Amino acid sequence: MLRTRPPGLVAAPGEQGGPFLLPPTLLRTVCQTPSMTSETITADASGTWKLGDLPVHRLGFGAMRLTGSAAFHHGTPSDRDRSIAVLRKAVELGVNHIDTAAFYFSALRSANELINTALSPYPDDLVIVTKVGPHRDYSGEWATSARPDQLRGHVEENLRQLGRDHLDVVNLRRMRQDSIAEHFGALAELREAGLIRHLGVSDVEVRHLDEALAIAPVVCVQNRWGLDSADPATGELVRVCGERGIAFVPFFAVAGDAGALGATGNHDEEVLAVARAHDAGAAQIRLAWTLHQGPHVLAIPGTGNPDHLAENVAAGAIRLTEDELTRLDALRTSAG
Ligand SMILES: NC(=O)c1ccc[n+]([C@@H]2O[C@H](COP(=O)([O-])OP(=O)(O)OC[C@H]3O[C@@H](n4cnc5c(N)ncnc54)[C@H](OP(=O)(O)O)[C@@H]3O)[C@@H](O)[C@H]2O)c1
Repeated sequence: MLRTRPPGLVAAPGEQGGPFLLPPTLLRTVCQTPSMTSETITADASGTWKLGDLPVHRLGFGAMRLTGSAAFHHGTPSDRDRSIAVLRKAVELGVNHIDTAAFYFSALRSANELINTALSPYPDDLVIVTKVGPHRDYSGEWATSARPDQLRGHVEENLRQLGRDHLDVVNLRRMRQDSIAEHFGALAELREAGLIRHLGVSDVEVRHLDEALAIAPVVCVQNRWGLDSADPATGELVRVCGERGIAFVPFFAVAGDAGALGATGNHDEEVLAVARAHDAGAAQIRLAWTLHQGPHVLAIPGTGNPDHLAENVAAGAIRLTEDELTRLDALRTSAG
């Protein structure tokens, strides 16, 4: 599996959309040369994007898989030391964008507590993105999602667990409301009060994004999307985000149709063929495809497995050819 930097690959730290800035000759060299050196690939190979004024490498990390063998209460609680080691390794590998939530917990583990224990005092360049709206009670059952006036409590719970006095980015996770204006307005007030630096939205349509933008700036949109999701409305949202300079941050890019329960094992032969050509795994190709959808598209793969973490970071260095992208895109058309 590709875990090391291909010869000649120059990362583009500090530049938006690094992979898209490589000269065609270098791209060709990389695409045709799956052989490796012993140099470890780090997240800067994926290029950078700014969430507001906060630069992040485009290949980040999702914390939902740190708490158990499956998300929430679906599996068995994780080994604490292993999860802490994964977080520290992620930062060592240059990951500086971690997605989390106070409601990411299993019977014994809390993602926010693990992040606090593993990484505080936090590196200056680390951007922690959290989300509010959904609510689970102490036993882990899904409970009534937050009313606008309860969002301050949700933000403060994240502050306490992470040991911060402000949150870098908070996503409002829409919970089937038709309008998000009241909820987003409540978060905009917390931003004005200095508890939050930047705002995002999750599980939205373009009309919700428009509602939010009429209230306050939006730096990211987090929706379900991936190689096998051919939903045209989400495709349109990705395009609109690109036009407006807003990051699009898909979840389940690796998990695919398995969703919260795990990674998809349902790989099309075309994905496997592209993976073989790059001496890579199918999960890496799914992530590489994600990063090729525009410089504003970020990846936040979730894992509790240190080997998977290294593979996912290395996926940020994979450069797909036009032909490979066409073949992978054709799968989406046929899925639709
Ligand atoms: N806004 C929202 O509503 C929302 C919803 C869901 C998730 N999220 C965020 O998005 C992040 C990403 O979603 P996700 O973690 O659910 O899904 P994901 O990253 O698409 O996939 C995670 C699953 O794939 C496996 N996996 C990861 N890397 C792998 C690799 N290299 N090879 C094989 N298997 C691999 C993981 O298992 P192992 O642990 O065994 O590697 C896990 O089962 C979450 O962590 C969370 O932060 C947001």
